[in-house]
Parts: sequence; C-alpha cells; structure tokens
Amino acid sequence: MIKIYPSIISAKILELNTQIKTLEPYCAGFHVDIMDLHFVPNLTMGPDFINAIEKITSAPLWVHLMVDDPRPWLELLKLKPSDIITFHFESLFRDPTSIKLRKTKGFIGESLLNEHKKIVGTIHSKNCLASIAINPETPLYDILTLLPFVDQVLIMSVEPGFSGQKFISKIMHKVKELSQYKKENNLSFKIAIDGGVDKNNISELANLGVEDFAIASAIFKTPNPINAIEELYGLTKK
Ligand code: DX5
Ligand code: ZN
Repeated sequence: MIKIYPSIISAKILELNTQIKTLEPYCAGFHVDIMDLHFVPNLTMGPDFINAIEKITSAPLWVHLMVDDPRPWLELLKLKPSDIITFHFESLFRDPTSIKLRKTKGFIGESLLNEHKKIVGTIHSKNCLASIAINPETPLYDILTLLPFVDQVLIMSVEPGFSGQKFISKIMHKVKELSQYKKENNLSFKIAIDGGVDKNNISELANLGVEDFAIASAIFKTPNPINAIEELYGLTKK
C-alpha cells in the first residue's frame, strides 16, 4: 500500500501547527528530518520540538535520524506506537577506526550487526517500526544481514542534509535489486524513498515496489500542498 509522508523540513516552520492540521487528512503521516550538524551539514529540530509535534497530531511520525549516534535520541523522543524510526547504516561509522573497520566484512557481520540489531530492538520495544537507511553511495550488500529484522528500508535518493536536491536516478537499480531480493527471500519490510521525489519519478518508483515516500519540495513548494499530495497519490496508481 502506497503511503506519502510530507517532509516538514520544507513546511513554513512558524505555521507548522496549521500546516500539519491541514494536511493530516490527506497523507499517511509526517516525515520529520532530524539533523545534528555533524552527520550531515545541517541542523533541524531537537527532541522538545519533535515531542511538541507528537502532541498536536495523532498521525504517525516518520522520524529520520541523520545524526552521529541515533541511540541517545531514542531515549529523548516521546514516540507513539505506529511511528517509524529511521536510523542510518552509516551513522555508526563516523570515527576513522570504524571507517577502516567497515572495509572488513567480519566487522560488518558481527559487531555492527549486533549494534544495529540492538537499535532495532530498542525501537521495537517502544512499539514503533524500525527502519534502516542507506546513502546513495552505500551498497545494498552492507545491510543484507539486517533485512529480516527491520520493518522498512529507506534508500536515500539524494545525499542527506537538504531538501530541494535533484533525484539521483542511478539509485533506481538499487530499488530494483532490493525489490527482487525481498521477493526471493520472502521478506516483509517496506521499501521507502526519500529525496527528490516528484511527479516525474513517483510512478516508476511505485511500479518498482516502493511503498513509503518522504516528499518535501514537491508538496510544500507548490501553490496547493493538498492538491500536490492527491496528484502524487494518483500517479502511483498508473
Ligand atoms: C534530505 C531529507 C529529506 C528531504 C526531502 O536529507 O532527508 O527528507 O526533506 O526533500 P525533497 O523532497 O525536497 O528532496
Ligand atoms: Zn528525510
């Protein structure tokens, strides 16, 4: 089932309450980008801000953690069941030793998998859905061992950090491969896309098996965000 989550990074921040209430009936929930100025060169909202959003809407929040270490965030956020929490595969590799170790498959297979599994476990213990994201240059191979444990896999179609970037079309092959791998292995996670999604590419992505879409500019930077959401949903049915 196709679900569109407006990414509020492009909403009018000072009118967020109204914008959320207006769009709530037309979308699956809201995508919330958390950036810490280290993992990505941009800074968005902190835990108090997100927790305040949780209070004004019963719609699911899809929290996208673009931070060095997702673990402390999971303790600070007051999440509700049905929220989706995305953490990045790359986020535990910020220090040079880890980056070096990442090149050894043994490290990926053991220490990292355990760490990732623990994060997934923490997310599940809050009755939320666990999602792993990979950047455009990260191969699918890196996350294969985690796929049986997650509810969603997010393929980034821009470098994380900013809305309004151009869709990186070479990730299409990654979507195809992931879709095929999912079928062959009878797995149940949903495939998600974030970055540069608009009316020119959403139909192809949906046909390839993407079900969850985070979309900022193609909704908020249009004259009528409600019409934009409805038009985007319509295109996924073609
Ligand atoms: C990018 C963010 C995206 C962003 C998408 O780092 O994770 O969620 O808001 O923006 P658009 O849809 O404009 O590419
Ligand atoms: Zn995002």
